[in-house]
Amino acid sequence: ISLKNYNTFGISVNAKRFISVNSVYQLQQLLKIEKDIFLISGGSNMLLTKDIENLVVHIDIKGISIDKEDDSSVYITVNSGENWHELVLWCVSNNYGGVENLSLIPGNVGTCPIQNIGAYGIEVKDTISKVEALEIETGKLISFSNVECNFGYRNSIFKNEVKGKYIITSVSFKLTKDAHQLNTSYGAIDVELASKNIKNPTLKDVSNAVIAIRKSKLPDPKELGNSGSFFKNPVVSKAQFIEVQKEYTTIPSYSVSDTEIKIPAGWLIEQAGFKGKRFGNCGVHEKQALVLVNYGNATGSEIYELAKKIQNTILHKFGIILEIEVNVI
Ligand code: EPU
Repeated sequence: ISLKNYNTFGISVNAKRFISVNSVYQLQQLLKIEKDIFLISGGSNMLLTKDIENLVVHIDIKGISIDKEDDSSVYITVNSGENWHELVLWCVSNNYGGVENLSLIPGNVGTCPIQNIGAYGIEVKDTISKVEALEIETGKLISFSNVECNFGYRNSIFKNEVKGKYIITSVSFKLTKDAHQLNTSYGAIDVELASKNIKNPTLKDVSNAVIAIRKSKLPDPKELGNSGSFFKNPVVSKAQFIEVQKEYTTIPSYSVSDTEIKIPAGWLIEQAGFKGKRFGNCGVHEKQALVLVNYGNATGSEIYELAKKIQNTILHKFGIILEIEVNVI
């Protein structure tokens, strides 16, 4: 079958065999027969460049449960096949705080810990209490605490030490019930709220503001295939940053530590002249240079070639290595 509708880049590659599973039990039974599998969930962080020979397993396990609550917090467990943005809207409508800044991020709940999704000053790790996953080799359910997940910027244990060894089946979150600590200073959420004359924002107001900002910059995968940020924002040493800044005085930056600085890749790519440029069937988004887009018929290899061209240009212009953020298959 074609995987075009299972990846947000809208790349047409084929799977020889495809199965959708909707329970942990079903997945355990499957693993007894076949362990050489290719997992697909929301398909929002992958670039498919070729047909998939092994069995494609679509994780479609649904369900949200409230584990416990007290006056200030609620603990919920969400199965991995739930859509991320729908979960955010559910939390907001129940007045559960903590994920409102992560509105409209594509993908499913089960993949949110893998790259520790983040936007507008929040990372999902700030709310995750536990991740449950099936060990492919043994079929056993294993629980990872927040600390064990080893979260970092766009990073976790699931991209490193245990990569390819587990299938995440559910994620548990600790959310606030009252007295929400809203984070509106990043990415001009406060400006958006002020433009609507909102002085005491609710969770819903913050969520709506994030949705408005994202819609103004990021393409809707249903209209224009994409995988969000294609690259990570590079983290460089302070010394290297100062060198680059001598030549490019307007370079924006965020401090990461006393010795390290993060530079927005979108800015570097824009300076290199790629923003809004089209190359055959793919290109660089006109409103956010960090996003590569498929104009309809691009192959994964075409997009990958464009990514390498960008990496090469940035390396020669700034001496900075751009790392690809999406999984290139
Ligand atoms: N910028 C440019 N040109 C561009 C894009 C950005 O000059 O084409 C500059 C902006 O002017 C600004 C800075 O870069 O000074 C940062 O831009 P923005 O706030 O749009 O955020 P970002 O660093 O480009 C990151 C995440 C996004 C997330 C936003 C908002 C990464 C790799 N990306 O982008 O995540 O939505 O912050 O918090 O960290 C995603 O991962 O798919 C994603 C969209």
